Amino acid sequence: SAAEKGGYDYFMLKEIAEQPKAVADTLLGRIDASGSLTLDEVRIPASVLREVDKVVLVACGTAYHAGMIAKLAIEHWTRIPCETELASEFRYRDPILDQRTLVIAISQSGETMDTLMAVRHAREQGAKVLAICNTNGSTIPRESDAVLYTHAGPEVAVASTKAFLTQLVACYLVALYLGQVRGTKWGDEIRAVIRELSDIAAAVDTVLETMEPVRALARSLAEKNTVLFLGRHVGYPVALEGALKLKELAYMHAEGFAAGELKHGPIALIEKDLPVVVVVPSPRGRSVLHDKIVSNIQEIRARGARTIVIAEEGDEAVVPYADHLIRIPATPTLLQPLVATVPLQVFACELATARGNEVDQPRNLAKSVTVE
Ligand code: G6P
Repeated sequence: SAAEKGGYDYFMLKEIAEQPKAVADTLLGRIDASGSLTLDEVRIPASVLREVDKVVLVACGTAYHAGMIAKLAIEHWTRIPCETELASEFRYRDPILDQRTLVIAISQSGETMDTLMAVRHAREQGAKVLAICNTNGSTIPRESDAVLYTHAGPEVAVASTKAFLTQLVACYLVALYLGQVRGTKWGDEIRAVIRELSDIAAAVDTVLETMEPVRALARSLAEKNTVLFLGRHVGYPVALEGALKLKELAYMHAEGFAAGELKHGPIALIEKDLPVVVVVPSPRGRSVLHDKIVSNIQEIRARGARTIVIAEEGDEAVVPYADHLIRIPATPTLLQPLVATVPLQVFACELATARGNEVDQPRNLAKSVTVE
């Protein structure tokens, strides 16, 4: 009913709007007054976490994209080798796991069969499993050694939005906590990022307030067949997530690429007026990455692409090459997905509406896939 949707036309719109609160709720009580993380609820002793020598993240769909971002955060802040794998591929390749492996299973529902089977396989091999989950008492957390719950509240729309943002928050918390417990040389950076994380809900709110041009842009592209998405570093999983949302909701051909791979193939796809969304990293953080992506934008634009550029407030270098410019607030490099994903959700939702599709119940999809 309309009341359940909180006055919005679709659950997805309501859930997109709830993201600042979902993010804040997932942080609540997990950062103490001194700015340290308190994750005692994750009942894996610090002594065990200090011995971990490999982290493997397993998940499906949107949660897998959170896992790809988590890998970058965990490796950067902890220096523990980390890999992210599709849960459906994981147990069929004889992965190397032992008592010192920490497996992190990310699942909104906690019922995804592929992810559950990966959890079982990891535990059989003696690995410790930590679930990141949004559903209290669901199967995956029950079968894991420990759980960190995301506090997104119930997510009804099939396409995941607020659950994704809170999965990211939970992943950052785990990464920062591992760094904190193990006392890496990134201590100062870890403390600074924890502070920035406390302010991130407000940044998400800022993005939501500036989405009208994104909606107008989406409507203008309703007749297109293909949209490409490019990113590097954390922007690459964001590009994959933008493309997944468009497939799920708009039933359009959409692909995400690592921008550095363009020249190795995908650039052949660029033709006149093809919409290409580019997620641009902060010019302050890894400025080399930023410069590289600016030249990627120039390359595709020179070949006729219609560039839709998502860039940090104040990034002037992209302006000459952006046919459409979507501004996001400045954040630390690794946290950017929390703000950069939001315009892509809005974009896909509006395109679905413009194409007359069912937003909350896309064809052929289920909210949680309980078969392998
Ligand atoms: C389904 C949903 C996706 C979701 C994936 C994983 O495919 O349609 O939106 O990302 O399952 O779900 P989970 O509950 O494990 O996060």
